[in-house]
Amino acid sequence: MEQTLVLIKPDGMQRGLAGTIIDRLERRGLKIAGMKLIHMDEALAKRHYGIHEGKPFFNDLVSYITSSPIIAMVLEGPNAVEVTRKTMGETNAGNAAPGTIRGDYAITIGRNLVHGSDSPENAVNEINLFFKKEEVISYGKDTDKWVIES
Ligand code: RTP
Ligand code: MG
Repeated sequence: MEQTLVLIKPDGMQRGLAGTIIDRLERRGLKIAGMKLIHMDEALAKRHYGIHEGKPFFNDLVSYITSSPIIAMVLEGPNAVEVTRKTMGETNAGNAAPGTIRGDYAITIGRNLVHGSDSPENAVNEINLFFKKEEVISYGKDTDKWVIES
């Protein structure tokens, strides 16, 4: 089953929206396969956002993501990467559709509450960056058959 990495960013933590964000994703049908509270250091932030190195917003992005403890999660489900991104809404929260996490709780691109991997390949790399193998657990739930037809 596909997995994705989700981060509840510093603004989500500081605004007390962690529970709400987890609730949205969990109710969608995504299963929590890993979760931890971490405070990203500069080195981890630069690795995670390495693709944006050199862009004008890079330094602010690194400062922002390292400014508070965050929650890192592995979520699992059919098409988990795309489903998570659609549930999060557009990167620029000001354009995100109402009904999405960003569209309901955020209004700018630089404080958009949540990260989700943008491809299955990047998801695998990002999960390995944040989690040891034994920290990710795939398990069945009695309700699985009511969420996913077999
Ligand atoms: P993320 O990686 O954080 O989940 O966000 P994303 O895929 O939706 O967007 P991405 O293009 O990967 O950008 C990463 C984060 O950088 C900030 N950003 N600022 N000022 C700007 O033009 C700008 N562009 C991107 C956002 O906080 C974005 O989430
Ligand atoms: Mg991204």
